[in-house]
Amino acid sequence: MWVALLIFALAPNIIQVDANISKSMHLTWGVRHASILGEDLHLVLDKTSGSAAQSKRSFLFGSIEMLIKLVPGNSAGTVTAYYLSSAGSQHDEIDFEFLGNSTGQPYTVHTNIYTQGKGSREQQFFLWFDPTADFHNYTIHWNPTAIVWYVDSVPIRVFRNHEKEGIAYPNKQGMRVYTTLWNADDWATRGGLVKTDWHSAPFTARFHHFRARACKSGGARSTNQCASNVPANWWTSRRYKQLSHSQIGQLNWVRNNYMIYDYCTDTKRFNGQIPPECFKPQF
Ligand SMILES: *[C@@H]1O[C@H](CO)[C@@H](O)[C@H](O)[C@H]1NC(C)=O
Ligand SMILES: *[C@@H]1O[C@H](CO)[C@@H](O)[C@H](O)[C@H]1NC(C)=O
Ligand SMILES: *[C@@H]1O[C@H](CO)[C@@H](O)[C@H](O)[C@H]1NC(C)=O
Repeated sequence: MWVALLIFALAPNIIQVDANISKSMHLTWGVRHASILGEDLHLVLDKTSGSAAQSKRSFLFGSIEMLIKLVPGNSAGTVTAYYLSSAGSQHDEIDFEFLGNSTGQPYTVHTNIYTQGKGSREQQFFLWFDPTADFHNYTIHWNPTAIVWYVDSVPIRVFRNHEKEGIAYPNKQGMRVYTTLWNADDWATRGGLVKTDWHSAPFTARFHHFRARACKSGGARSTNQCASNVPANWWTSRRYKQLSHSQIGQLNWVRNNYMIYDYCTDTKRFNGQIPPECFKPQF
């Protein structure tokens, strides 16, 4: 109740980011060949440069939604990224990265989360569709309770807030939305074995329909200001705190059939010291 009142009291400051990409984002790299027009953002990579864009605002919590159509054909060596990040050495970050592949071979969806500068929490998946044939919905849902990575409304990963048990959670630093397309053939393709085929350049990744049902960053948690499209019960309702039974079913389906890598099972990498959140319930 108090939360709802607070949000309405702050209504004059509501955050309107549900408009054009052209109003809410700007190009920061490769501006010569990338473009933003209305609802559409095209990032381009050729031999001279990749490209990038970022949101003008930063957010503290929100449901950040983007429709993306990835580089088609021989995209091996290219990486398209869509992520939230704060600034500084103790930065927080929530990542979706799409590693291209040879024609007809599947993309890898690489996810990660940094809290106070610490990452190394990768999970990787294949997709159950061709992400280059059409636009698909990649949404990062980030509230005080949990972060959920959604692909076409199917949750593929959850990182819950276990701050009380000493595991850092991103809830103090505002984050901007970033998109980039770059050449990563030194690592993305089987450790650099497959090189980017520049005969297929320029490569284009298309973004469309950027929506942020988000809260404004800055100030104490109790004074967050949320957009009018953020449900008033966002902070309190069970619905926004945990996945439904059917969503848990979907998440397990993804993990059982499409998961390629999970840092939580990589005992060799961590010398047997698996990170503590791996032992906590995540969904
Ligand atoms: C979005 O951008 C296009 C092209 O710049 C413009 O014609 C349109 O009015 C804009 N729509 C909104 C809702 O701002
Ligand atoms: C490319 O596809 C092969 C399967 O043919 C897969 O093993 C490999 O992980 C994929 N590479 C990337 C970067 O997605
Ligand atoms: C994208 O997915 C999110 C999360 O499930 C959902 O809330 C949103 O309505 C979807 N958007 C579109 C355009 O389908």
